[in-house]
Amino acid sequence: MDFKRADFPEGFTFGAATAAYQIEGHQFGGAGPCHWDTFAAVQGNVIRNEDGAIACDHYHRYAEDLDLLKDGNMDAYRFSTSWARVMPDGRSINPDGLDFYDRLTDAILERGLKPFQTLYHWELPSALADIGGWANRDTVKYFGDFTDVITDRIGDRMHAIATVNEPWCVAFLSHFLGHHAPGLRDLRATARAMHHIMLAHGEAMSRMRAKGMDNCGIVLNFDHTSPAEDTPQAAAAANLQDAINNRWFIEAATKGTYPAEVLAGFGSHMPEGWQDDMAQISQPMDWLGVNYYTRHKMLHDPKTAWPHLKAIDGVLPKTQMGWEIYPDGLHHFLTRLAQDYVGDLPIFVTENGMAWEDTVENGAVYDPERTAFVSDHMLATKRAIADGANVQGFFYWSLLDNYEWAFGYEKRFGMIHVDFETQKRTPKASYHALKAAIAR
Ligand code: NOJ
Repeated sequence: MDFKRADFPEGFTFGAATAAYQIEGHQFGGAGPCHWDTFAAVQGNVIRNEDGAIACDHYHRYAEDLDLLKDGNMDAYRFSTSWARVMPDGRSINPDGLDFYDRLTDAILERGLKPFQTLYHWELPSALADIGGWANRDTVKYFGDFTDVITDRIGDRMHAIATVNEPWCVAFLSHFLGHHAPGLRDLRATARAMHHIMLAHGEAMSRMRAKGMDNCGIVLNFDHTSPAEDTPQAAAAANLQDAINNRWFIEAATKGTYPAEVLAGFGSHMPEGWQDDMAQISQPMDWLGVNYYTRHKMLHDPKTAWPHLKAIDGVLPKTQMGWEIYPDGLHHFLTRLAQDYVGDLPIFVTENGMAWEDTVENGAVYDPERTAFVSDHMLATKRAIADGANVQGFFYWSLLDNYEWAFGYEKRFGMIHVDFETQKRTPKASYHALKAAIAR
C-alpha cells in the first residue's frame, strides 16, 4: 500500500464492514423470514437462487472473524443488526436474537474494537413486506420500535449507529429497477419507498435522541455521474442521475428538501403530506457515512420512460462487478459533501472495496488488484482531508467474501477469502498489505 497510518490524522479509524444477512446465516437462531428469502426463491432474481440461509456462518464463527479483524490491526468493526433476527415478524421480540447481538457486542469490545452498528441493512421481516413494506408508512413506525428494542439492549456500547444503509438501494434499486428485494418496477411504490425510507431514518433518529443518544448518523451511497458526451441532453441526464442517486438522500437528510427534477418524475405518487415530514428527516446528525464504489457516464435516452437515462460502458479498468475503478470520485464526494452539505461534521467512508475472482492457491490468495484499489482510494481520502473534508475513518467492504445480494456468492469482495463449502477463512494478500500499512 502507498500509504501508512501516520499519513492520516491522529485517531483516524481503520476498519472493515459487513452486514447481517450477508454473513450470519439467516437459518440460525430463530430469525424470521425476510423479503430477501422470498426474492431469492424466485427464478431469475438471484444467481443460482442463492440466499443468506448459511452465508459465512458468522452466527457461530463470529469470534474467529473478530480475531481476524483484530489481528489485521483494525480499530473498528462495522456490522448490522438484523431486524428479522431480533423481531422475526417485525413486531415481537426473539430473545435469542437480542442475546446474539449482546454477545457480539461484548466480543467486539473485548478485542478493543469500536462497534459501528447499522440498524437497517435490508432484511425486512416478511410480515412487514406483506403489508407493503417500505411503500407503506406503517413500516416506519415498526422500524422505530425495532430501533428502541435493539438500542435499549446494545446502544450504549456502540461507538456509532447508522439508521439506514444505502436508502437508494432500499428504495430505487428495489422498487423501480427491480434488482433487489422486493423486486418491484413500480413508480408509485418507488415514490413512497423513497420518502418512507428517509422518514424511517428520521423516526430512528427521534427515538434515539429521546434516549439522549449522541452517536447517530446515516450511511448513504454515492455514485459519481458525468455526461458521456458534450451535449446539453447528456449534461441534464448526468444531473438527473446525480439527483436520483445522491442528492435525494443527502439533501433530505441535511436540508429537508428533495430535488425538484425527481419530484417532477414522481408526480402525484408522492405520499400525501410528505412535506410535513421533512423537519424530522433533516434533524441534525452526529456523523455521516459514505459508501463509494464507482462512476457512471450518462446519456439521455428518449426511447425509454422517465427518467430517460442510459449509462454507457466505461473505458476504465473494471472490477469483477464490471464497475469502473475511479478513486477521484471518492475525493469528489468527500470534498463536495463537506462544502455543500455537512461542513465540519465527521464523515466516515463506511464502505469502499472491490470484488475480484479470488482463488486460494497453495494456501494463499494473491490479489494485487485489491491492494492497489484500497491504496488508491486511501490516497484519494487523504487528499480530501487535505482539501478540508473532516474524514475520520475508512471501512473496507468487506471483511469476508459474502452473499452479494442478487449476485449470490459469486462476487468476492472480502479481504478474507471464504470457502463456502468448508467455511475456511484465508486472509488475502490485500489483508496483509493493509495490516502492514496501518501498523506503520
Ligand atoms: C453496498 C452494500 O451496502 C453492501 O451490502 C454490498 O454488498 C456492497 N455495496 C457491494 O455491492
